[in-house]
Amino acid sequence: MVRILRIELPRRLIPRKLKMVVCCLAIVFSLTVVYYSITGTAAVPHKRSNDDLEAAIRIIDHRILHLEQGKKTYPEVKFLMYKDRKRILITGGAGFVGSHLVDRLMMQGHEVAVVDNFFTGRKRNIEHWIGHENFELLHHDIVNPLYIEVDQIYHLASPASPPNYMYNPIKTLKTNTLGTINMLGLAKRVRARLLLASTSEVYGDPELHPQNEDYWGHVNPIGPRACYDEGKRVAETMCYAYEKQEKVEVRVARIFNTFGPRMHMNDGRVVSNFILQALQNESITVYGDGDQTRSFQYVSDLVDGLMALMNSNYSQPVNIGNPEEHTIMEFAKIINTLVGGQGQIVKKMAMEDDPQRRKPDISRAMKYLNWQPKIPLMVGLNKTIEYFRNELRRSQHSERNFHMPEKFQV
Ligand SMILES: NC(=O)c1ccc[n+]([C@@H]2O[C@H](COP(=O)([O-])OP(=O)(O)OC[C@H]3O[C@@H](n4cnc5c(N)ncnc54)[C@H](O)[C@@H]3O)[C@@H](O)[C@H]2O)c1
Repeated sequence: MVRILRIELPRRLIPRKLKMVVCCLAIVFSLTVVYYSITGTAAVPHKRSNDDLEAAIRIIDHRILHLEQGKKTYPEVKFLMYKDRKRILITGGAGFVGSHLVDRLMMQGHEVAVVDNFFTGRKRNIEHWIGHENFELLHHDIVNPLYIEVDQIYHLASPASPPNYMYNPIKTLKTNTLGTINMLGLAKRVRARLLLASTSEVYGDPELHPQNEDYWGHVNPIGPRACYDEGKRVAETMCYAYEKQEKVEVRVARIFNTFGPRMHMNDGRVVSNFILQALQNESITVYGDGDQTRSFQYVSDLVDGLMALMNSNYSQPVNIGNPEEHTIMEFAKIINTLVGGQGQIVKKMAMEDDPQRRKPDISRAMKYLNWQPKIPLMVGLNKTIEYFRNELRRSQHSERNFHMPEKFQV
């Protein structure tokens, strides 16, 4: 500082003492500025009145409130002009598949309404959208009518895993019949297009391999899985009755086994079961001899397929699945190796009416939707294992394990 002053001010013009005073003042001033910037308070303490203190507390209260309100940030969604922005209803949107579809449609800039009764779905799956101006969550059971204005309906509401749909077979039937009628009625009223999330289970235990959409299936109508299989078959029948009689635009996706983050921890599906058992070093349970086959697709491929179908001109049923087929025993080994699990693979008694072979023929999807799965099995499995690993680490409700939409991940 002294050196600077020496350089800038001619020596003869300023007496030595004055220079010292100026230097001291400069130092005090700099220290004061530093103090202000660190503490944000007055450098010279003064005695405060009660009014001053109350005013200060009010300011702090306001700041805390502001911080709390402003805390929530949302993934950056695309801006769509009014004419391009659709109002889209997703029934069962708080479930595993539905929540990924919500993410994709929200990111594209559409207005999304989710209807869910939270039987198997969770608010947690979509909580990153709650409060967003394009998003609405309705707690509603689709067995009851719903009045809402929308352009498209993705109708996904239904329990999907065997333990869940067998838990209350009558409710499963009602959801897939009454619930589907309600949604078709809504589609008719507001002239919306409806996509039904049907299932490969409509093929039952198939005699045809791989299964194409012209195959009528081989379902036991009174077996333990009938509430779901027959429920979905009737739901498909209803769609085409509404199309023929009421001119409702329908799309039917026959979804094959799907896996990915946000699957339920304990819903008894093959992939979640195997991953959880391997992560906990438990024995991996295979029902039957393990020679039955399955073809698993990663959830983002399914979402691509559902959106392609909804926006296509094709109205016949379309298989959406990954044709890569493995035996259940192979899956058990692959997952155990990926996780590094130490447990043995143990065989248990076969499940009643368990389909022996499952593999989609996706030529129709390739031809009419230009769709085919892109995510390799190992990539999808690793993402899912990571999600479950984090789920298992949670020990308190306040700990979060968000699976955020892809573009939002930093
Ligand atoms: N995940 C798969 O492998 C698979 C395979 C074939 C078909 N599907 C179909 O895809 C859809 C979604 O499956 P998922 O795996 O996401 O299942 P999920 O259980 O995670 O999601 C289903 C959602 O529907 C909700 N729901 C159930 N009954 C309802 C009702 N009466 N009213 C309102 N909401 C209700 C649940 O709470 C849940 O949020 C289902 O229709 C299922 O049949 C899924």
